[in-house]
Amino acid sequence: MKRILSGITPSGDGSLHIGNYLGAVRQFIELANPSTSSGQAHECFLMVADLHALTTIQNKEQLQRNIEALILNELALLGDLQNITFFRQSDVPMHSELQTILNNVTPLGLLKRAHAYKDKLQNPSTPLRARDEIEEDINVGLFNYPMLMAADILLYKPNLVPVGKDQKQHIEMTRDIGDRFNRTYKTNTFKLPEPYIPEEVAVIVGTDGKRKMSKSLGNIISIFDDETVIKKQVMGTYTDPTRVHANDPGHIEGNMVFTYLDFFGEKEKVAELKKQYREGKVSDIEVKNYLFESLIKTFGSARERYGDLKAHPEKVKHVLEKGAAKAREVSSATMREVRDAIGLTNHYSFFRYS
Ligand code: TYM
Repeated sequence: MKRILSGITPSGDGSLHIGNYLGAVRQFIELANPSTSSGQAHECFLMVADLHALTTIQNKEQLQRNIEALILNELALLGDLQNITFFRQSDVPMHSELQTILNNVTPLGLLKRAHAYKDKLQNPSTPLRARDEIEEDINVGLFNYPMLMAADILLYKPNLVPVGKDQKQHIEMTRDIGDRFNRTYKTNTFKLPEPYIPEEVAVIVGTDGKRKMSKSLGNIISIFDDETVIKKQVMGTYTDPTRVHANDPGHIEGNMVFTYLDFFGEKEKVAELKKQYREGKVSDIEVKNYLFESLIKTFGSARERYGDLKAHPEKVKHVLEKGAAKAREVSSATMREVRDAIGLTNHYSFFRYS
């Protein structure tokens, strides 16, 4: 059975948007489910990467709120958890231990090439500041982020890591770091994982029609917000700026409402709407109303589950406890190999991961 692993950071306000769903969560659900993954069930691990959020969130109440929001959002989307081990990264201390060890086989230059760090250095709002000065504002956690992510992945020896394209570089760095460890210690402890990034969902563009959908850019469509919020987001979505009247022929290409409808609408109905839109026979409002309906239909049961989970914290705690136990079991076995491979274990050792 192939093993799949992924993670989501409770950054922003912790909630998920349709970019996260299409770019990562949906692949994960499909791979976990034998009826949607060509009859093959995969063993799946999904983590709430709460330690990763510390690079940007240093307010206790906000972090607590974000972690809760992400846990509830993810569990509501996942539904029946068959084949899925769902856990919090901070419930499994092996992640931090492996990160410490990997620090020593990773060259500084590799981390300096990470997009997240380079983007911070080139922050357009501070073009005149010297590099040294900007570096004063970048915490080491952000710089070292790819290393923690490498530890997250390597511990579980997954075959595939379903993510959006923005995480591709991190998976390549993970392979690089795992390979360096294996070569340094002449071992094959780590399996080198492959990213899983279907082209059509590699980058979901936001409602502005220009940039990657991202909470910080305010161009999202939420999944669990109130219907009025979702409706407003849908009504504000970029369509065809050259079309002034509803009876003008419209364009489908680059029209975000149709881009989203391709994922969430019914195939025949979408094909018919596209035809009518091109002929100037249907208004933007009608098409947007259909997108709104389709979203509420797609996420209806998840939205109900969200309410149920929020009302029953004991259910959530139980899932996390079970998930952490399984994650610790798998990661302990890897840490035992790691400790043995690097020479931390000797004849005075009394502690051994079981
Ligand atoms: P994060 O929390 O930023 O994003 C979660 C997942 O959503 C995908 N995504 C998108 N995909 C397509 N289009 C978009 N507009 C879009 N926005 C977000 C991301 O690519 C990601 O797959 N570092 C990771 C979390 C992480 C992780 C891991 C992932 C921690 N440890 C181990 C995999 C394996 C992150 O911050 O993703």
